[in-house]
Amino acid sequence: MKKITIAIDGFSSCGKSTMAKDLAREIGYIYIDSGAMYRAVTLYSIENGIFQGNDIDTERLRKEIDDIHISFQLNPETGRPDTYLNGVNVENKIRSMEVSSHVSPIATLGFVREAMVAQQQAMGNSKGIVMDGRDIGTTVFPDAELKIFVTATPEIRAQRRYDELKAKGQEASFDEILENVKQRDYIDQNREVSPLRKADDALLLDNTDMTIPQQKEWLQEQFNKIVKR
Ligand code: DC
Repeated sequence: MKKITIAIDGFSSCGKSTMAKDLAREIGYIYIDSGAMYRAVTLYSIENGIFQGNDIDTERLRKEIDDIHISFQLNPETGRPDTYLNGVNVENKIRSMEVSSHVSPIATLGFVREAMVAQQQAMGNSKGIVMDGRDIGTTVFPDAELKIFVTATPEIRAQRRYDELKAKGQEASFDEILENVKQRDYIDQNREVSPLRKADDALLLDNTDMTIPQQKEWLQEQFNKIVKR
């Protein structure tokens, strides 16, 4: 069967990653969470003093960006890939509220995006990949054979993130998360470089009222249509 490239873009916390991971496992493709890469750069910046409060020492980050190596390795316990930053497993750390609330300004920096896009394109050069993010269908893989743009209301997305953090035993406030979701939507859609937008040829999926199994079925159908064409 021919291998294709699948780009799944959309708003934060709308379940893109769950859908993308499940599909990749089902069809035997590699899954890459591009947001995890921006989160890893953010964690690096927090841990290495590149953030001073909310200010970023962009000149230092620019010098160090090529020394930030991000990779993914399958976690046999979860069956899903964990994110590694310079060889260290940072999967849990990059999901913290601290990283979530610092990641947007990092993701607006042109030189950070250039470095990440180059790494992402290299990861996908032999196809057979599902990548999720904000600019995968528009910038990273504009020729992807299957593009999906996922959306849901901010309230339902905040609730899902809240439940996820609670399940991991992390402290969380719903109002704070909702505020964070709205703020990130604004920044993602209004930044100068690669703003979040639906590619003209992407299929729209609003999953506000959908269950995970329903989404899974829908996505598998879209995949089947393309590979059987
Ligand atoms: O999907 P996420 O919430 O893990 O993404 C984290 C941040 O990275 C979010 O602010 C948007 C940004 N991002 C991006 O700008 N481009 C991508 N391809 C993926 C994520």
